[in-house]
Amino acid sequence: MSSNDSNQRVLSGMRPTGRLHLGHLHGVLKNWVQLQHEYECFFFVADFHALTTDYEESQNIEQYTFDTVVDWLAAGVNPGTATIFVQSRVPEHAELHLLLSMITPISWLERVPSFKDQQQKLSDRDLATYGFLGYPLLQAADILVYRAGWVPVGADQVAHVELTREVARRFNHIYGREPGFEDAAEAAVKKMSKKAARMYGNLRKEYLEKGNGEALERARALLAEQQNLSIGDRERLFGYLEGGGRIILPEPQSLLTKTAKMPGLDGEKMSKSYNNYISLREEPDSVEAKIRTMQTDPARVRRSDPGEPANCPVFALHEVYSTEEVCQWATEGCRSAGIGCVDCKKPLIDAINEEQLIYRQRAQQFEEEPDLVHAILAEGSEKARNLARETLEDVKEAIGISHR
Ligand code: TRP
Ligand code: SF4
Repeated sequence: MSSNDSNQRVLSGMRPTGRLHLGHLHGVLKNWVQLQHEYECFFFVADFHALTTDYEESQNIEQYTFDTVVDWLAAGVNPGTATIFVQSRVPEHAELHLLLSMITPISWLERVPSFKDQQQKLSDRDLATYGFLGYPLLQAADILVYRAGWVPVGADQVAHVELTREVARRFNHIYGREPGFEDAAEAAVKKMSKKAARMYGNLRKEYLEKGNGEALERARALLAEQQNLSIGDRERLFGYLEGGGRIILPEPQSLLTKTAKMPGLDGEKMSKSYNNYISLREEPDSVEAKIRTMQTDPARVRRSDPGEPANCPVFALHEVYSTEEVCQWATEGCRSAGIGCVDCKKPLIDAINEEQLIYRQRAQQFEEEPDLVHAILAEGSEKARNLARETLEDVKEAIGISHR
């Protein structure tokens, strides 16, 4: 068993990109609000990460951080339950990043898919920087510095959690060894039958070198079957499988967000850069205007032409916001030309505005009292920092630079 199977700590971060939209709400925030009741949650604004791509526009970061946190609070993230903080207020993230950088092969970073993807996508900026290459390693430090067991992320971030696991494994392998551990483990291997010992060795290698999880499972099963091992040797060999002896940085797991991607006003994924979004605090009139001007099924030119909801971005929003009943009403009315698109959009506008009412109210309260937000972040950052410090103490001791 890896040491974090019972780890109930969740950590996730978001880059400060300004006010959030309904894609963030349905894709991320509602999930966080749910998780905060079930786990010990840490949510932070990744302002260092913002600098990896927007180092020339750093003057917006503070305002964007504030706006982001106000939206979290508006959506129901509760600072009494979850710890909310800012990455740069916990310098241990940077310190662990540095220490991990010493053991991370450059090739691991170069092959993370987002590295080349983003460089191509953001071709207007120079992203051939040291910091940008290290983006996923900084993310690994974010996660490992709290020894979090679970990381709620979208599919695009799974590769980063995977890298985090590899880095943690390597760290434990290099620095988790206790004096004499390796010799004792090798002696224990020899106590098994020749065949079992050979299998154990191969599976261990397969796991340590390639991260093959199936090999790990099979090696554990093999150990469980061995009759002639003492309890101590068995434990030793379980530990030896995952590298050295001690696990200083446990490997986290991704907690994939199940929600389907939120469609934007044009049917594409909702995104700030596509300008197809409705923000979390959009004014009711503006919500109405945005929905009213939305494209519908292109085949439905006149009111008398029947349409097909499957070809209509308005219907995609109904599927997120409306009851089964309303969806059925829209489907039938559309296909029979019984309702017009204006009719169809009306309940959608109402549903969005109704949901947003409470968010707007909560956000307004924080906008009027910004010190409330600053106090939440100060307290959260302090709490996070205390934990992060403990990890750094263990990490530095394992490396041998605690200088005490
Ligand atoms: N890279 C993440 C994103 O773009 C943000 C992030 C930074 C993050 N550090 C993290 C997410 C740690 C989860 C855990 O969305
Ligand atoms: Fe889209 Fe509704 Fe118009 Fe059909 S009636 S095309 S689902 S907006």
